[in-house]
Amino acid sequence: MASAYSIKKSNAHYKQAVKRLPMGVSSNYRSWGPDQTLYVSHGKGARLWDIDGNSYVDYRLGFGPAILGYADERVDEAAREGMSVGGPTALSTEREHAVAERIAGMVRSVDMVRFANSGTEAVMAGLRLARSFTGRSRHIMIEGGYHGLSDGVLWEMHHEQNEAGDVNLEVQSEGRGVPTVLRTLFDTVPLNDPEKLEEVLRVEGNDVAVLLIEVILGNAGGIVSEPGYLKRIRSLCDEYGVVLMVDEVKTGFRVARGGVQELMDVEADICTFAKAMGNGYPISAVAGREEIMSTIGPEGSAQGGTYAAHPVSLAAAEKTLQILDETDALEKINEYGVELQQGISQLLSARGVTHTWSGHPSMSGVFFMESAPRNYEDWVKSDYEFYEALAARLIGSGILVEPDSREPFFISAAHDDSCLNETLEKFESALSFVLDERAQKK
Ligand SMILES: Cc1ncc(COP(=O)(O)O)c(C=O)c1O
Repeated sequence: MASAYSIKKSNAHYKQAVKRLPMGVSSNYRSWGPDQTLYVSHGKGARLWDIDGNSYVDYRLGFGPAILGYADERVDEAAREGMSVGGPTALSTEREHAVAERIAGMVRSVDMVRFANSGTEAVMAGLRLARSFTGRSRHIMIEGGYHGLSDGVLWEMHHEQNEAGDVNLEVQSEGRGVPTVLRTLFDTVPLNDPEKLEEVLRVEGNDVAVLLIEVILGNAGGIVSEPGYLKRIRSLCDEYGVVLMVDEVKTGFRVARGGVQELMDVEADICTFAKAMGNGYPISAVAGREEIMSTIGPEGSAQGGTYAAHPVSLAAAEKTLQILDETDALEKINEYGVELQQGISQLLSARGVTHTWSGHPSMSGVFFMESAPRNYEDWVKSDYEFYEALAARLIGSGILVEPDSREPFFISAAHDDSCLNETLEKFESALSFVLDERAQKK
């Protein structure tokens, strides 16, 4: 397929689209430039078709949501039933309680739930809630974490590496327009470094409302928190009266029924969900302990909005969560993820390529380095350019992975043996191509 691959129609559409849509798209992350941006015709199961008719086995899954696969008929049927409500009414439906019950049954730390539309919104609500509950203003984030597009968290680690391999990380806002004054409101600390966190808390502790963390860094290749680290941060948060907010927008209902909290045995005070909970329908949740959640209200913090708990998305979430909770979908996803890792590892090892996996089989990152990464600095030190070359070749052969190595491979319950065989076959030829190319450059 590689030689016949053409995205002429996507390229032509880009030229039109860019006149009306900045960067030709509706989210910066979807633009891969004039020659590479893809426009989608449709998805079904684990496959996606672009407007040129190319088909892809998809490991992006819309950055995670399509956990049961695209256009899952059970979920779509439920969503159609949700339409019978007639749309958002500025009143509540009984289903909100039913879905909150389901979430509380699945996630140990959750007593109460509020719904929103996106991960960004859920995180915004959670941060505000933590500030209102503690009466403090500051927050702490983890280097390499991502928590959506609201100003308070839209900060990333700019990285530089010198010839000797030393890495310098510097906090910068993602793009312009984020008020610089907000930089004074937070600190960042590396993952798996409790001493650094304690250092910050010793100085700022009385002003810190919340530690915001992805326990598996789903936007940095799935770098995993170590068990001892999680125990330590839990007790540091307790000691300093800081709310532990676990952002489960990517991990929630994916890495285990009870999310990363179940998988890694950590209990959050507040947690946020989105992505997998609606199989692609726009819905999210901020959830947590009653003592904190029950302060939402006129005397505490504001949360809500015209489209919160939209009846279509809510019905889709009810069905998605039922399936994830009551069937073996997550076990199937896990099995596929393990087989994919093993298959790819065999191919890489056969060619002598040093690599390691991070994350969870349902959302894992491959790092071209010797030992598993412990923090964002390790990602900088990995050979991510090798990943990028491989990714470009894979995409051109019909295996859709993210061009940026920081986005993990997402697996859905619709990935099957035919997807696996096709992936491994194409991975082998993409690998040969990239290795030959590298050898020629030397
Ligand atoms: C951990 C995490 N939090 C928050 C968000 C923001 O979610 P959304 O894109 O739905 O606003 C994302 C998106 O990728 C995420 O991965």
